[in-house]
Amino acid sequence: MVIDCFAFFKEMKNKMYSKIDTKIIEELGAIVGQTNVQTTKDILKAYGHDETEDFVFLPEVVVIPNTVGEVSKIMRLCNQQKIPVTPRGAGTGLAGGALPVCGGILLSMERFNKILNIDEQNLQITTETAVITEVLQNAVKEKGLYYPPDPASKGTCYIGGNINTNSGGPHAVKYGVVKDYVLNLEVVLPNGEVIWTGANTLKNSTGYNLTQLMVGSEGTLGIVTKAVLKLIPQPSQSLLLLIPFESPESACAAVSAIFRAGITPSCLEFMERRAIEYALVYLGDMKMMIPDEVQAHLLLEVDGYYIESLYEDCEQIAKVVEGFGAEEILFADNDAQKRELWRLRKCVGRAVKKGTIYKEEDTVVPRAELPKLLKGVKMIGQNYGFESVCYGHAGDGNLHVNIVKGELTEQQWNEELPKAITEIFELVKSLGGTISGEHGIGWVQRPYMPIVFGEVELGLMSAIKNVFDPNNILNPQKIF
Ligand code: LAC
Ligand code: ZN
Repeated sequence: MVIDCFAFFKEMKNKMYSKIDTKIIEELGAIVGQTNVQTTKDILKAYGHDETEDFVFLPEVVVIPNTVGEVSKIMRLCNQQKIPVTPRGAGTGLAGGALPVCGGILLSMERFNKILNIDEQNLQITTETAVITEVLQNAVKEKGLYYPPDPASKGTCYIGGNINTNSGGPHAVKYGVVKDYVLNLEVVLPNGEVIWTGANTLKNSTGYNLTQLMVGSEGTLGIVTKAVLKLIPQPSQSLLLLIPFESPESACAAVSAIFRAGITPSCLEFMERRAIEYALVYLGDMKMMIPDEVQAHLLLEVDGYYIESLYEDCEQIAKVVEGFGAEEILFADNDAQKRELWRLRKCVGRAVKKGTIYKEEDTVVPRAELPKLLKGVKMIGQNYGFESVCYGHAGDGNLHVNIVKGELTEQQWNEELPKAITEIFELVKSLGGTISGEHGIGWVQRPYMPIVFGEVELGLMSAIKNVFDPNNILNPQKIF
């Protein structure tokens, strides 16, 4: 779906924003060099989408700066001229946070790709924000260190995007999400001023927490150009178990029981049968026989330094899951087998996207409520006649619900489905959860924010936005 921003937001944009003319293009060229100012249709199209469904919004120009000084000058110009700016990392987002829905400038951060310092004394890394997450992880691993947040797209996504959505991934269940690793950020504000948000310390009780305000703000408050991140020692041992269940709800119920038994797995992922089926078709080269009666799996990792104690944990886990009807557990104790199982799990989202038209929801509830969430999602699906593929970070209560278009008509998809999603989100809220665990709100989840926040809370967020960006030029139309 290619959306011409001029048609879509013509009225609003005419009122609020300036059109980019040749003079502005020249000024941008003077700041970043003409080759880093792109206006050809192909380029606009390539930068006009992220991984969110099939949305494409054409920006008026793509600008690719290389220094914080350049970003600052661009923002000063745009603030004076009232030009909308959409910052973009690697474009792997699933909520449309990087879609340039108001046209204007698409600001690609791709050249901010340098790791600046790994401080082995203090266990910290200082990095530019367009470093690929896995590249950063590998760089610190060489020094025996570990940066745990690992979204499924870690081979392509950028640290900056992870910061802006407060990403998680499988290891969040033991090690926490991005917010738990961000110590200090260099940020260019919408008016072009450059700030550091905190200090390079593990503790900080100094005024409002601007660092954490930036984390998860989806590029609406400022542009993060550098980050100081906390590191921890790299665990040396891990074991991975694939645990089959006949009942998906029992698999979900086993999750909180594992924690209650005193085990904290380093990953605890859920995949219903359809999720694995999509993944196997997508991969093409992986063979896996799933007995007919098996309807779901938990993928569970334990890690640490002493293999004997990990085996003991696994024995205890086996006892717990047996009580929930688990079938025979597959033990992946060599690296090749582990890699294959992770390849399977990590491609589920892409596999569903490739296989069908779909919408991805990112529900999260307290983990013991997971069985109720799964049951409710399936019931709502039955009522509205859609299939859903459920998978995700069960240990965190974070269930990705991929709603498949299947046989639904356009009318059902466009008009009925939002009602179904509203019901799912109302259920999530009633269970003490919320509508996004790690993908963010961006563009596509924005209409649902009033389900989880009242006018007062939304008013506070809007007021914060207004303090940072009174002209509403930075990533407008996102979050609320
Ligand atoms: C995953 C992404 C979609 O967990 O968040 O696979
Ligand atoms: Zn996920």
